[in-house]
Amino acid sequence: MNSGCSIVGLGLHLPRTCVTNAELERIVETSDEWIRTRSGITTRYFAQPDETCSVLAYHAATAALRDAGMSAHELTHIFVGTFSGDYNLPTTACLLQNMLGIAGIPAVDLAAACTGFLYGLESARAFTSLYPEARILVVGSEVTTSRINFEDRTTCVLFGDGAGAAIATGQANPGPIRVLDVMLKADGSVGHLLTVRGGGSACRPVLHESIGPEYFVQMQGREVFKHAVRFMADISSTLIQRNGLRPEDIDLFIPHQANLRIIEAVAKKLGVSMEQFFVNVDRIGNTSAASVPIALTEARAMGRIQPGMKVLLTAFGGGFTWGAALLQF
Ligand code: ACO
Repeated sequence: MNSGCSIVGLGLHLPRTCVTNAELERIVETSDEWIRTRSGITTRYFAQPDETCSVLAYHAATAALRDAGMSAHELTHIFVGTFSGDYNLPTTACLLQNMLGIAGIPAVDLAAACTGFLYGLESARAFTSLYPEARILVVGSEVTTSRINFEDRTTCVLFGDGAGAAIATGQANPGPIRVLDVMLKADGSVGHLLTVRGGGSACRPVLHESIGPEYFVQMQGREVFKHAVRFMADISSTLIQRNGLRPEDIDLFIPHQANLRIIEAVAKKLGVSMEQFFVNVDRIGNTSAASVPIALTEARAMGRIQPGMKVLLTAFGGGFTWGAALLQF
């Protein structure tokens, strides 16, 4: 519940290449009309080979440090949410630590798919209660397109790449955005509905020829859709109630940007208008763990968040994992 954790800096970074629906029409049998009506997406960003997960994370992290007026040397911990890190080893968090030139501090990747940033934020909240002096870099960074099958039209039109970052501090260094509460969940019994199996140790032998569809995101879209709506609406509502609030008391909802129809269904289930929801999935697509911190950073930069506002973040992803966080600006 209420903690001494706050956010003192936010940042985002998108790859150079913006890809339109018309460009995807040249790669798979699809149409701008189908993509827009089923997902609300019109553009997304694809990383080029030099724009690795750690490079995107580095740019988002330095933007968050600038926003916080801090130097990387003041950081005490690094958490990176990702399912599309540069390698299995070294981790993206360690690559990022090296790029920032701050060897020594703990750095770890969190594999919670699209909920990775919220798992990172709750980890930061726990660490700041242990270490009130902590200044923790929490990043969501993804090159989802490295794990998307461009022969599978049911998934490849939905995803994009990018990174978002926040600096979380403890009671000793309070900041302008208080993290009031966070709730996390997971349910491995439905994990088979959204998978990236290839490259895992259960998929042996690993032969070059074995890089087939299993290596990429495979998704039972309709089932994922239903779970995403139910889990994000339920956890948002529980967290709101646990803090003695009603959905109408939340000034802005910032949900995982997977699909406009999922966001609309969550709003409907919570009984609040879409005016209370921040949406950028139309321009950026689904960037998995990067989605929530990118949207939070954008929402503040666009003036959608003012001091005094209560903001609710919610996310859902493979595993399944899901979560929500209540912020007070
Ligand atoms: N272009 C054209 N047609 C397509 C495409 C495409 N890109 N993809 C599928 N179709 C076709 C299908 O083949 C199907 O044709 P058929 O009826 O001849 O078999 C038809 O469109 C309808 O397919 P449905 O799967 O029924 O379409 P639906 O309305 O369910 O929308 C979608 C599909 C967009 C994937 C939807 O189920 C969805 O949004 N699911 C959740 C996906 C998601 O957001 N996942 C991520 C959340 S978690 C995370 O971020 C990791």
